[in-house]
Amino acid sequence: NSLAPCDIVVFGGTGDLAIRKLLPALYLRDRDGHLDDATRIVAVSRAGLDDAGYRDKIAAELRGFVPEDCHDTTSEERFLARLHHITIDIAGQDPWLELITRLSEAPDSVRVFYLACAPRLFGPVCQKLSEARLVNEQSRVVLEKPIGHDLASARAINDDVGAVFAEKQIFRIDHYLGKETVQNLLVLRFANALLEPLWNSGAIDHVQITASETVGTGSRAGYYDTSGALRDMVQNHLLQLLCLVAMEPPTRLDRDAVRDEKLKVLQALRPLEGPDVLRATVRGQYAPGLVDGEPVAGYLDELDGKPSNTETFVALKAEVGNWRWAGVPFYLRTGKRLERRASEVVVQFNPVAHSIFPGIADEFIAPNRLVIRLQPDEAIRLHLVTKEPGPGGVRLRQVPLNLSFAETFESRLPDAYERLLGDVVRGDPTLFMRRDEVEAAWQWTEPILAAWEQSGTRPKRYAAGTSGPTAATALIERDGRTWHEEDV
Ligand code: BG6
Repeated sequence: NSLAPCDIVVFGGTGDLAIRKLLPALYLRDRDGHLDDATRIVAVSRAGLDDAGYRDKIAAELRGFVPEDCHDTTSEERFLARLHHITIDIAGQDPWLELITRLSEAPDSVRVFYLACAPRLFGPVCQKLSEARLVNEQSRVVLEKPIGHDLASARAINDDVGAVFAEKQIFRIDHYLGKETVQNLLVLRFANALLEPLWNSGAIDHVQITASETVGTGSRAGYYDTSGALRDMVQNHLLQLLCLVAMEPPTRLDRDAVRDEKLKVLQALRPLEGPDVLRATVRGQYAPGLVDGEPVAGYLDELDGKPSNTETFVALKAEVGNWRWAGVPFYLRTGKRLERRASEVVVQFNPVAHSIFPGIADEFIAPNRLVIRLQPDEAIRLHLVTKEPGPGGVRLRQVPLNLSFAETFESRLPDAYERLLGDVVRGDPTLFMRRDEVEAAWQWTEPILAAWEQSGTRPKRYAAGTSGPTAATALIERDGRTWHEEDV
């Protein structure tokens, strides 16, 4: 598990992502003994800090983002000593002399340039890295989402970054792919012979993919208002999950075999365009309400009354137009300020063909459901119908066969970034998005945004702390189906 010596240069080193996710993930890998003694983390920002100032800042923050049972002073001290800070104004003209000097001290280390800064800076940073001759064969660049806000801007970013780095050096991160249960989806499908023969329209009625959050847009309201739920969650995380559920078996677990199969799914998505969009999608925006018993503001209030049509909720019905999935709808939904935090993939199988049980009609025998739960508690549950114990007639009840990861595996489940940062250092992009995937995802998403815009309609309001607009319930119920809601 040990990683080669590396210099991890984080652009946006004092930002939210670095502090909440990247540094805690690197700390945890260090604590587990995976970082080489020579590995350094060089934060770049405009903050005007020296190494000591940056270490103090991180020391004050780190524990807030690391699980309590992983706090330990010796590991923290070792980790803080790896941290450095260089002040650079990325948009400025100064040559990056200090960075050049620092990196030249370790010419053989793997160089990871992590762009945790605004996407408009991706091109300029890469160009500066190239001018400063900091990019070599051993270098990789990591791009955080959003990669653009539409197809054209995504292409422009990909062109700019591609002018400096080869595709195999570019790691477009989608942290959902680093989540344990998401990787488990691959194992579940392809390391068990049981499911694959059933994994098609012959046995599956429909699929639901949900990422529901209780948080609002918080400190990210500025960014979020230019984005919205479709760009922020569906274009990337939810479509990536859909790809893993729907793809054909890759011939082996390697970077191109897996990503080729995912790309085919994106290309097979039936385009949603024009009037179809209004039939197959629901947009929502949260109004004031109660979340976990606490009153919370509505989205527009958080924008200080600025008018906005940005959606904080989206539900839609997608179809994968190929032989395996013909006629099987994929219902996707995601939103902020909802009543529960839960991300899950639900595969619902067909109902039984005929009931043999006296007095129990076919439709009262609940169809089997496979629930792959990503968070908050990672689990795989297969809902089966069983007989309720006891004499006197057969009473049926659906109960889950429950594989809870926390109960089954005693070890700590690593955060997505811990896994993905390791893959970057090792140079394995299997769980990262390739250029053509990102662009295919935009190609499908863009007409939805355009149709919303042209329709002149507004997102439907939903009270914070509910399950979203009632139209989202109607979207699935119209087809005689219901959203999976499970409190566990
Ligand atoms: C991010 C989005 O990519 O994913 C956020 O930009 C969202 O808006 C987050 O809150 C959700 O991630 P997770 O891991 O908490 O489900």
